[in-house]
Amino acid sequence: MTANAALFAPLICTGRVEETHDTATFTFRAANQSPFAYKAGQFITFEVEVADQKLHRAYSLSSSPCQPDQVAITVKRVPGGKVSNHLLDHLRPGHMLPGMAPAGEFNALDCPRTDKVLLFSAGSGITPCISIARWLLANGPGCEIDFVYSARNADQVIMAAELDRLAAQDERFRLHRVLGQPAREGDLQGRLDRALFDRIVTEVAGKTLFTCGPESYMAAVVEFAHARGMPAELIHQESFVPASANDAGASSGAQFQLQAPRFGKTVTVTDGQTLLEAMESAGLPVIGACRSGVCGSCKCQLLAGEVEASSTATLTEDEIVAGYRLACSSTIRSDLVVEL
Ligand SMILES: Cc1cc2nc3c(=O)[nH]c(=O)nc-3n(C[C@H](O)[C@H](O)[C@H](O)COP(=O)(O)OP(=O)(O)OC[C@H]3O[C@@H](n4cnc5c(N)ncnc54)[C@H](O)[C@@H]3O)c2cc1C
Ligand code: FES
Repeated sequence: MTANAALFAPLICTGRVEETHDTATFTFRAANQSPFAYKAGQFITFEVEVADQKLHRAYSLSSSPCQPDQVAITVKRVPGGKVSNHLLDHLRPGHMLPGMAPAGEFNALDCPRTDKVLLFSAGSGITPCISIARWLLANGPGCEIDFVYSARNADQVIMAAELDRLAAQDERFRLHRVLGQPAREGDLQGRLDRALFDRIVTEVAGKTLFTCGPESYMAAVVEFAHARGMPAELIHQESFVPASANDAGASSGAQFQLQAPRFGKTVTVTDGQTLLEAMESAGLPVIGACRSGVCGSCKCQLLAGEVEASSTATLTEDEIVAGYRLACSSTIRSDLVVEL
């Protein structure tokens, strides 16, 4: 059983640029030539066939919505990763990948103010941040951007040339490279700690912060911003890493029945399993793009039964009342009847 094909449109890879030894940027156009409409910071969920299995993964768009004829994603290798490594090893211009419509709440357009912006990223977390920066520079004549990027050394700076180009061409874009081994004058040395944060962020009043990177990096940035008095509603973060199961997922070992009447399936599941894992094991066509309760791709409706929900992001109040849940963020606690 495959995921709902109507949700996907064919995208043709039009280019590939090696960014670092383990990261590449891929550009795409829509096979039907339609323009892309998205908000800077959003992602696309791709369907990728790896060893006869259709897998779904989210990739933030690193391109700017100002150029709607194409989109770009920047993929970094993940040790043991199925899809990231497959894309880096096999995806070339001319290949086709099915992609969903852009989505995501981590974006520059849905924020109350984006005239003064702090963008903190590390690793592949640069992707939504550079999209936001590109879009603001093109649309906010009075904007001020502090772009902070952390890496071990200069060779691991993703999109290094583009960051330098933006900094050289536009005084509204202030680049701060935080490197374990500084490579040139102006590079800041070390890990991002409170002292370095305070050195870069001299003033927080009126600023909006976006951060994307490893979990510990984002936790530190958020902590430093809170300590400086930034209100929570002006701090936005995006996690790329799937939560394996929600924290409440301890299992009693009890077994339950999961029914999906539309697909004629009834399978035995275990207390404490996530609904997403259970549906995937049953071969149901659920799409688990982020596996961490942020993208909404795994939305399904509970017709009967109980789960413990750790995230309801992207669901409306009406949907929650109607029994909709995010399968990746739902721990099974009883017999269930689900609708996809
Ligand atoms: C909203 C969103 C946007 C994203 N944007 C990007 C992007 O712009 N560029 C990009 O390269 N990736 C991005 N990702 C991550 C991407 O979706 C995949 O998770 C990643 O490519 C790994 O998938 P995989 O199939 O290779 O690894 P899997 O086979 O799924 O996982 C292999 C192992 O790696 C761990 N793992 C999975 N993802 C990560 C990760 N990101 N970092 C460290 N460990 C991980 C898993 O827990 C597992 O142990 C994004 C994720 C989300 C949710
Ligand atoms: S897979 Fe993204 S919210 Fe569940």
